Amino acid sequence: MSALSQLYEGKAKIIYTTEDPEVLIAHFKDDATAFNAQKRGTIQGKGQMNCTISSRLFEQLEAQGIQTHYLEQLNGNDMRVKAVKIIPLEVVIRNIAAGSLCQQTGIPLGQILPKPLVEFHYKNDALGDPLLTRDRTLLLELATPEQLDQIQQVALEVNQHLQAFFTRCGITLVDFKLEFGLDSAQTLLLADEISPDTCRLWNAAETDPNLRVMDKDRFRRDLGNVEAGYQQVLERILNQASGR
Ligand code: C5P
Repeated sequence: MSALSQLYEGKAKIIYTTEDPEVLIAHFKDDATAFNAQKRGTIQGKGQMNCTISSRLFEQLEAQGIQTHYLEQLNGNDMRVKAVKIIPLEVVIRNIAAGSLCQQTGIPLGQILPKPLVEFHYKNDALGDPLLTRDRTLLLELATPEQLDQIQQVALEVNQHLQAFFTRCGITLVDFKLEFGLDSAQTLLLADEISPDTCRLWNAAETDPNLRVMDKDRFRRDLGNVEAGYQQVLERILNQASGR
């Protein structure tokens, strides 16, 4: 099945239609952006690494009964996915304080949270993806109350499965962002990607606050060795996913 025409170009992916209206192709780009695209760059080989990492993680989640848009990885950079209408929410799940949680609350970086925290952000670049309350989410009619409850529950389940998997990889899952969509039958599916672009991942064996970072924070914070961080994540996931 080949790509027909470009449907949408985002910061990290291009989405193509196929001859099947229920199926799309997601092409993962090497382009990197941060801080709402104020910082731009290229991470060599990122498209292929993120497509492969996302594919293996979606396969792990599907095996645990999580419904996702993932169908198959076609080649290095391309993933066949079910067509969904993306719900404009960025669902952030946090196990350890970092990033905007620290900036906005003063909780120190690295503090383990008493239980996973689920946040809803409005996926809206023009507004800078603001943090929402449940009432604001309902006011904006971004999802129904039932969908929000389901998203919250699935997000926590995904967190449990990913945390367990990453622990086996020797990686600490600090926080991550999920997106959900509805297929033509209105079934809620986990969509988008799960990669070092969308997760904070720390090398569990490393305590140095800069050296332990294996994710896009290396790019955001100019820590260097960005590709090497992603490559390490990829290798560990491949070893773990193949049972080695
Ligand atoms: O910046 P913040 O601390 O809110 O990010 C929380 C998590 O969500 C991080 O893992 C980050 O990579 C991810 N995120 C994302 N896309 C965004 C905002 C955050 O993948 N637009």
